[in-house]
Amino acid sequence: MYVPISLRIMPTDWAAPLNLPAAFDRAPQRLEVDLGCGKGRFLLARAAAHPETSFLGLDRQTRRLAKVERKAQRAQLANIRLLYAEAAYTVTHLLPPGSVTAYYIFFPDPWPKRRHHRRRLFDAAFLDALATTLTPRGCIHLATDHLDYFESIRRLLAGDARFMEREPFITSAEERTDFELIFLQQNKPIGRCSFAKKASVLR
Ligand SMILES: C[S@@+](CC[C@H](N)C(=O)[O-])C[C@H]1O[C@@H](n2cnc3c(N)ncnc32)[C@H](O)[C@@H]1O
Repeated sequence: MYVPISLRIMPTDWAAPLNLPAAFDRAPQRLEVDLGCGKGRFLLARAAAHPETSFLGLDRQTRRLAKVERKAQRAQLANIRLLYAEAAYTVTHLLPPGSVTAYYIFFPDPWPKRRHHRRRLFDAAFLDALATTLTPRGCIHLATDHLDYFESIRRLLAGDARFMEREPFITSAEERTDFELIFLQQNKPIGRCSFAKKASVLR
């Protein structure tokens, strides 16, 4: 199996949508994106279990991405690519419209202090970008231990006519994320929800 020497995507133009067939060495039939993939436990397990699906992991911590890259190379995962970039910027500017079949947003930084809430990932503009880049019936899967943030994201999605709630995505034992394992060990409650873009929504 051909696994390229570098799994990093290096955009040549940061203001234009990525050329996904070039980035993945194939035209992705299904593209799943892990926003804030961290050390990549979920991304690596899911990519190994679904070789026909293309996976993009992105994070703004380059050392974490380097670890994921090494593990993906060792496991010969040809269907993973990694991007060192900010999540909202990537969804807004770099992912082509209608290209993403699933977003995983697991344990996004909660920024608990009120004065820091504006740093949170989820706002109306981010929702617009998610809706634009998802395929019809494409999904957003969210998990967080921060229950206030969870409720505000869920309210935002439930109040948006472009999305409908579906049963939450539950990670398998192999897929549990690094942070999920920590919180489960601490018996912390975890909020999970999933929403699908309605098929009738064009963009
Ligand atoms: C709490 S960790 C969760 C990591 C992983 N999803 C997990 O569940 O184990 C949040 C991760 O998201 C990354 N991150 C936070 N905000 C981000 C942003 N705006 N853009 C890209 N990455 C971000 C952080 O660098 C960190 O690796």
